[in-house]
Amino acid sequence: MKLRECARLIYGRAGWLVGDVVAEVALFFGSDEGNTEGVAHRIQNRLGADVCDVFDIADATQLEFADYDKIILGIPTWDFGQIQSDWEEFWDDVSEVDFSGKVVAMFGLGDQFGYGDFFLDALGMLHDVVKQRGATMIGYWSTEGYEFDASKAKVEDEDLFVGLGIDEDQQPELTKQRLDEWCQQIHGEFELGTPLLAVDD
Ligand SMILES: Cc1cc2nc3c(=O)[nH]c(=O)nc-3n(C[C@H](O)[C@H](O)[C@H](O)COP(=O)(O)O)c2cc1C
Repeated sequence: MKLRECARLIYGRAGWLVGDVVAEVALFFGSDEGNTEGVAHRIQNRLGADVCDVFDIADATQLEFADYDKIILGIPTWDFGQIQSDWEEFWDDVSEVDFSGKVVAMFGLGDQFGYGDFFLDALGMLHDVVKQRGATMIGYWSTEGYEFDASKAKVEDEDLFVGLGIDEDQQPELTKQRLDEWCQQIHGEFELGTPLLAVDD
C-alpha cells in the first residue's frame, strides 16, 4: 500500500493533517499499448501539471476518486467493443464511486476504419456508469469528421459523442487540434481559473 493511501486510511480525507495537497483536476486513464496514456499526458500538459494529476487506473483506488471534484477519464476500446483490461478490473470499483457533486469529462481512443461497428464503444459504456452514479457530464464532442457505422459513445439522435474521440490509428494528424479545442472546451466547462497552456506536440 502506498504511503499516501496508508496515511489517508488513518486520517480519513483530512489531507492537510499529512501535508497532502491534490491538484484541482484528476485524470484517470487505462491503456494497453500506450496511446491513451500518451493522450492523457498531452491533456495534462495543456491544463498544467500543477492543475491536473494523472493516474493509471491499473494503480488507482476509489480513494483517489474521492479526493477530486473535477475528473477526466480516458479509455480505449478493445476486442470488438470491449472495455480496456485495467478498466475492466476496476469496473466494480468505479460502479461504486459516488460521483454526485463531481464534474466529469471523458475521452476515448478507437479505430474508426478497423472497428467501425464498435467505434469508441468503451467510452459510451463508461460514460453510462459514471452518469448513473450521479456525475455531471461535460466535454461532449461533435461526431463531425469521423466515419463509423455504430458507436455506443454516440448520443442518440444527436451528432455528438459523450466525450472526445481520438483515433491514433487512422487520424493521428488531427489529434493535436482536437486536443487543443477540447481542452479549451473543458477548461471553460470546469471553470478553471488557471490559464490553459499552449503546447506544441
Ligand atoms: C485487436 C484490437 C481490437 C480493437 N478493437 C477496437 C474496437 O472494438 N473499437 C475501437 O474503436 N477500436 C478498437 N481498437 C483500436 C484501439 O482502441 C486503438 O488502437 C487505441 O488507440 C488503443 O489504445 P491504447 O494504446 O491506449 O490501448 C482495437 C485494436 C486492436 C489491435
